[in-house]
Amino acid sequence: MIERYAVIGHPVAHSKSPLIHAEFARATGQDIEYRRIEAPLDGFRQAADAFRAAGGKGLNVTLPFKQEAFRYCGEASARARDAEAVNTLAFGQPVFGDNTDGVGLVRDLSRNLHFDLKSARTLVLGAGGAAQGVIGALREAGVAQLVIANRTVEKARTLAARFPGTRGCGYAELGDEAFGLIVNATSASLVDAAPPLPASAFGRAALAYDMVYGRDTPFLAAARAAGARSSDGFGMLVEQAAESFFVWRGVRPDTVPVLRKLRGG
Ligand code: ATR
Repeated sequence: MIERYAVIGHPVAHSKSPLIHAEFARATGQDIEYRRIEAPLDGFRQAADAFRAAGGKGLNVTLPFKQEAFRYCGEASARARDAEAVNTLAFGQPVFGDNTDGVGLVRDLSRNLHFDLKSARTLVLGAGGAAQGVIGALREAGVAQLVIANRTVEKARTLAARFPGTRGCGYAELGDEAFGLIVNATSASLVDAAPPLPASAFGRAALAYDMVYGRDTPFLAAARAAGARSSDGFGMLVEQAAESFFVWRGVRPDTVPVLRKLRGG
């Protein structure tokens, strides 16, 4: 029997998740259907309840509902509690909430981009939901140092205080400090802006990673101008999807062929 899954968000029309999960299902021989659900801004709970009542087995949750999904689930994984957000719901008894964004980023960095996180002085830009979703996983990956910089300094300090060993600051406080990995978790790229980062932040052989995908952002362009390597967040999207697929199906799909096939597609 076909089991049903969906991605729920607002907007969700451009989500590539149905394509990605269809590829995973084909490659692993899993009989699933995966569609998009656009819920009204005040209608997440109702839409999730309805999908579940109709026999749905699980949901991917995207903007702006990840925090609400965290409150919706009956049991949350440690990484969902770190993020205070859920991007994967599995409809059992109770409803299980997980967050695969952080592990998705770390896998893309380490496996696809062959970046050695263990020795990396790491800078995360932004202190909103996107940043909060990946700090725990970066820390666990053993980065050498983790600094969170944000326009509103207080938010960076508050977020850093939740994760021992990390430091929160404003952009001006970075001075000429250099990093090996810089992850843009701000929403600046969505409006073609770049966080006010000094060019000296990009250390020798640095990797600049933008969590936004499908476009060359001013942040990535600035990184290349400073001599750094750059990557958009498409690999993270595919890797977080693979981990969600594993949470639901107990099978971990090979992401490499899917990345190759869908990149640019
Ligand atoms: P998300 O869930 O995508 O993280 P959010 O919670 O609204 O969205 O957070 C957006 C983040 O991008 C914030 O860290 C925001 O900085 P502020 O906290 O100072 O608002 C950051 N951001 C958005 N536009 C930015 C810009 N032009 N330059 C620098 N940071 C920006």
